[in-house]
Amino acid sequence: MTKNQLTITRPDDWHLHLRDGEALTSVAPFTARQFARAIIMPNLNPPITTVIQAVAYLDEILAAVEGYDFEPLMTLYLTDNTPPEEIIAARKSCFIKGMKLYPAGATTNSDAGVTDIRLCDATLEAMQKAGLPLLIHGEATAPQIDVFDREKVFIDETLLPLTQRFPDLKIVFEHITTKEAADFVSQAGDNIAATITPQHLLLNRNALFQGGLQPHNYCLPVLKRDIHQQALLKVIRSGSNKFFLGTDSAPHSKNKKESACGCAGIFSAHAAIEIYTSIFEQQGALDKLEAFASFNGPDFYGLPRNKTTVTLHKTDWEIPNTYPLGDEKLVPFLAGQTINWKLAETAATPQ
Ligand code: DOR
Ligand code: ZN
Repeated sequence: MTKNQLTITRPDDWHLHLRDGEALTSVAPFTARQFARAIIMPNLNPPITTVIQAVAYLDEILAAVEGYDFEPLMTLYLTDNTPPEEIIAARKSCFIKGMKLYPAGATTNSDAGVTDIRLCDATLEAMQKAGLPLLIHGEATAPQIDVFDREKVFIDETLLPLTQRFPDLKIVFEHITTKEAADFVSQAGDNIAATITPQHLLLNRNALFQGGLQPHNYCLPVLKRDIHQQALLKVIRSGSNKFFLGTDSAPHSKNKKESACGCAGIFSAHAAIEIYTSIFEQQGALDKLEAFASFNGPDFYGLPRNKTTVTLHKTDWEIPNTYPLGDEKLVPFLAGQTINWKLAETAATPQ
């Protein structure tokens, strides 16, 4: 590694929304050119709740990344009615790597989510036994709870009791946004880890309102205040192996973002590893990037680390204002801004 070039083990994205249909075809190559694997979120409409549905979705993703060396790691959407038998089928399938918990009403396509986690106890028991991780969107949903407090309330009311009922259940606390979540995961046992997005490292809630309402910085969990951003940056500087890369890249069309009721979600897959690299560099923590991006995730999931590498060059380039999304447009994270690291094209790109 020189100051102007960085080679790391090929990274994985442990939290990704690929959508389906034309949107999938538009966005999947962005991920496949940089990451070897990604955990694919199941919040389609209708959601992916069974292994049989996941097989069809896996086929659709593989068609969208033809020619790339990329492995989708599938998840199932947990509902109040997911039977324990589905966990056994998931384990046997070998390509289902986790169950996703969306509290009902928490976010995009979460209407079929879980209304009360205790309804899932028999299924969670089967997951604990099978070693199948629970991937959690950790926000309380009661309408009276302040939107900025939802993660903290979820920890107190749902996550803590859950970990007491299932002390050995593997849990990934997804896209953490608060000091409370960082502290909870840091102090928990080895069976509990977390992903962190680029936007929650780079921005705080001021970015939602600077110079007017900024819909392209709106995601869920919503950006929090500066002290929470600082807590997440401290975590990545620490090099703790309990935290790893998960972009939560979530494409919505420009029209749907710039509307009277804008959708939650930030698309970052176009430059994910480059953005994380800039952040780690700004934090004086470039030596911690490889573990965060390429080691901690597979180690937690019990999967092998990737054997190939990627190289990044220190070069300024400008992020486009839009990319195509089927027939529509997609505004990427940091649109129009200059970024100072660029991924070199590699053998993973189709020739
Ligand atoms: O901002 C978000 N967008 N958060 C989520 O939890 C879901 C995602 C999406 O699917 O658009
Ligand atoms: Zn997500």
